[in-house]
Amino acid sequence: MAYTLGIDIGGSGIKGAPADLDKGEFALPRLRIPTPQPSTPQACAQVISEIVDHFGDQTEGPIGVTVPAPVIHGVTPSMANLDQGWAGFAAQDFLAEQLHRPVRLLNDADAAGIAEMRFGAGRDRDGLVIMTTLGTGIGTALFYNGVLIPNSELGHMEVNGHDAETRASSGYREREGLSYKKWAKSLQRYYAALERLLCPDLFIVGGGVSKKHDRFLPLLDLHTPIVPAQLRNEAGIIGAALAAAQD
Ligand code: BGC
Repeated sequence: MAYTLGIDIGGSGIKGAPADLDKGEFALPRLRIPTPQPSTPQACAQVISEIVDHFGDQTEGPIGVTVPAPVIHGVTPSMANLDQGWAGFAAQDFLAEQLHRPVRLLNDADAAGIAEMRFGAGRDRDGLVIMTTLGTGIGTALFYNGVLIPNSELGHMEVNGHDAETRASSGYREREGLSYKKWAKSLQRYYAALERLLCPDLFIVGGGVSKKHDRFLPLLDLHTPIVPAQLRNEAGIIGAALAAAQD
């Protein structure tokens, strides 16, 4: 049986796996290759094509690919955490040409959110759901009654005079060697600002650090329920594959 391939381009690794879209899980173990440096679109495309070859004829149809940037009509208008060669680049068409397969390019947090809404913490949740991914940066995905409002960039919201992801991402916590308790103070300011502006019904917290959610979520004092993501680091790949299969 052939599955839809999902690929997640991150700051440190490019990961891919065929997704079982009935179950919302990997059909085969994922392959991770370190992100090339510099992480130009050309260098990343080479790694992606290794991943495509690795899974051979076990995948078919369009490939879903996530990038840590907004994607507007196949173009990444700006890029915060990969090579600047991506900024203003028609990345979706370029990848489709390089891979000889149709490609659906989308923002990484939007992809993770799509998977959480279908299979994880957002299942059957109406109203405004805000998925946040805490990683090198902060990604956000907004859903209203299950429908994605794409390309929200609320990780770059200004909080206390700073770009929020430079104070509340888990990359910041690691770089500064902060305890979870200290980091939670920045998270508190960030989520309180989001809830003041958007009055959501639910926050979902994803990203690798979400497996340690019991160390920081209980320290937050918010009106909005806040829950950990359930698909963990599978969400981006599964969501990319879902988006590709739906096109
Ligand atoms: C980017 C977003 C991305 C997030 C997580 C931010 O710096 O601007 O597009 O979703 O990082 O990777």
